[in-house]
Amino acid sequence: MTTGRPDAAPLSELEVARIRADFPLLGRSVRGGRPLVYLDSGATSQKPRVVLDAEREFYERHNAAVHRGAHQLAEEATDAFEAARATVAGFLGTDPGQVVFTKNGTEGLNLLAYAFSNAAAPGALDGADPDWARRLHVGPGDEVVVTEMEHHANLVPWQELCRRTGATLRWVGVTDDGELDDRAARLSEVITERTKVVALTHVSNVLGTLNDLRPDSTVVAAARAVGALVVVDACQSAPHLDITALTATDSGVDALVFTGHKTLGPSGVGVLWARRGLLEAMPPFLTGGSMIEIVRMEGSTWAPPPAKFEAGVPMAAQAVGLAAGLDYLTEVGLDRVHAHDQQLMGHTLDLLADRPWVRVLGPEPTHRRVGAVAFVVDGVHPHDVGQVLDDSGVAVRTGHHCAWPLHRRLRLPASTRASFGVYTTLEEVDAFAEALDRVPQIFGMAG
Ligand code: ALA
Repeated sequence: MTTGRPDAAPLSELEVARIRADFPLLGRSVRGGRPLVYLDSGATSQKPRVVLDAEREFYERHNAAVHRGAHQLAEEATDAFEAARATVAGFLGTDPGQVVFTKNGTEGLNLLAYAFSNAAAPGALDGADPDWARRLHVGPGDEVVVTEMEHHANLVPWQELCRRTGATLRWVGVTDDGELDDRAARLSEVITERTKVVALTHVSNVLGTLNDLRPDSTVVAAARAVGALVVVDACQSAPHLDITALTATDSGVDALVFTGHKTLGPSGVGVLWARRGLLEAMPPFLTGGSMIEIVRMEGSTWAPPPAKFEAGVPMAAQAVGLAAGLDYLTEVGLDRVHAHDQQLMGHTLDLLADRPWVRVLGPEPTHRRVGAVAFVVDGVHPHDVGQVLDDSGVAVRTGHHCAWPLHRRLRLPASTRASFGVYTTLEEVDAFAEALDRVPQIFGMAG
């Protein structure tokens, strides 16, 4: 698994220019004719033409409700949907049977959190493998562990699971440098024999901190030692890194989610991957059509996974679009995508270091970060910073970025975040820094 230092060469200027030509939206101007500088890919990525074409082609040529109907279109739509699943499986280095399509990353995490409380219902685990059944049982006295750097999507569902089951939520803290406080001595206080789940992000959506999730990392090793399920939010790493190591047989990770719209795909589609035994044991989250085996008035039984977790007519066009986006990243090469990100990161941190009135949040070394740089200008509200940047055509995100506890930990109400995509250029980072220089001018600070 990546340590944060890719071996590959960064993308050349020409390669990035070619990539940009594939993204129609990047050619537009904003705010009275200024060229768009899109540094908000952590919120959502822009889409290459192949993704737009794949969705259009699906709707123009093959649209039908998948896994239903006996006609040719239904067959074509089903084949396209299942081919998309195979592409996702290839991207993750896993088997298509372990890939569940969800609406987004948030839904994948809710699916897991609800599976635990649904497992407590009478008969919900009948026939399940006893080991997985035991691991799925969460009740009073049990503990669920998250971290202080989670996006709300990987925090609130677990808070709610604890509320429903009487379990207790605990968390791994964050250091002043924005790293997980994953010293073994500290972890041994948080991850104990009572821990049933350890849910944590691979990369912080705010700070870009890359968490060490190798099998022998302190956090994964501590979770494994007590038999806790390890759930990874890979929403911010999947667009930038090869994450296949997380699904490897001995990775120590039991489930992960990522979302399509940050990974060059359309919105409305996300992915849950989990160990086969876990998928087989877990009760469903949503119920209805498609996910059943037999339905009688008295009750129903479930189809095998992944169908068990895909109730209703699925998002076929979006899955097909996502597959095109993942193929695009694979073709560029995830190692080179990562190396490109590292180059952008290094350049951004260098430019910000030249501006003493900017306080960068998160770890100092470039290789400990992926995809995003958050910062504050002391004395100026992040929304004002964002507005000054926007006036120059630079799109960033401001606020607490759905990570309120992390901001509270850093004693900040909010921050400004610049985040990158495979199409981001070094010149865009220069334009961002130049636009940022207007902040001290406008707010009367010594620049
Ligand atoms: N989760 C997305 C972000 O970090 C929206 O901006």
